[in-house]
Amino acid sequence: MRKLLIAGNWKMNKGIKETEKFLKELKDEIEEEIFEKIDIAVFPPFTSLYVASILLKNSKIYLGAQNVFYEKEGAYTGEISPKMLKEIGIKYVIVGHSERRKIIGENDEMIAKKLKAAIEEEIVPILCVGETIEEREKNIHKKIVEKQIQEGLKFLKEEDEFIIAYEPVWAIGTGKTATPEIAGEMQGFIRERIKEIFGKEKGEKTRILYGGSINSKNIEELISHPEIDGGLVGGASLKKEEFLSIIKNSIRSLK
Ligand code: PGA
Repeated sequence: MRKLLIAGNWKMNKGIKETEKFLKELKDEIEEEIFEKIDIAVFPPFTSLYVASILLKNSKIYLGAQNVFYEKEGAYTGEISPKMLKEIGIKYVIVGHSERRKIIGENDEMIAKKLKAAIEEEIVPILCVGETIEEREKNIHKKIVEKQIQEGLKFLKEEDEFIIAYEPVWAIGTGKTATPEIAGEMQGFIRERIKEIFGKEKGEKTRILYGGSINSKNIEELISHPEIDGGLVGGASLKKEEFLSIIKNSIRSLK
């Protein structure tokens, strides 16, 4: 019922030339029938988005941005609006990644505004949530994630399309992938919270991705779990062969 999504978050990697090479090859090598089974999206850095949008124009690979601001236009030095992203055909935008929460200092209020602003331009936001290792050890991880969900979604309505990515901070870029049981338990918990806020049907419909040290070896087991509807892949999405293997292996979990 929920279509899988494999999303490659390139972070601050790949300029224009590398983006062109990667996407040309990816487009050539990806088999057409794959798109019937799963959605695929790439998230290049801002300076590579325009060239990526031209390359992906007639492709079924979706294009996403890694961040967005919540105002439409104006005196906001250094920011990019949802309207600007819309103009180049952006489908998804990552909001509230833990690197932005921690390094840039984004808070739940800003994140909530960003989600709403993206939706107003018909861009689907991917809200990232997840606990640190200290929070898990103190057994407050569910409380933390519940707050991120409640605050992040507070301006949205039932009919608004959004995606959640559960990304435990201790699993990002560390090689310490959450087990399918740990991720699945948290994602089931997140789904219950969405049901509480927007109703049962919305909770059942909403895609919840897992993110944190995904690779071609662990993807199949992870998304075999019924609560895991795809992956937000960082490091492993930068190598074309590895990204293609992740896509192929995730389809195997569909049986
Ligand atoms: P990683 O990053 O796959 O390199 O752990 C995931 C993410 O931050 O989205």
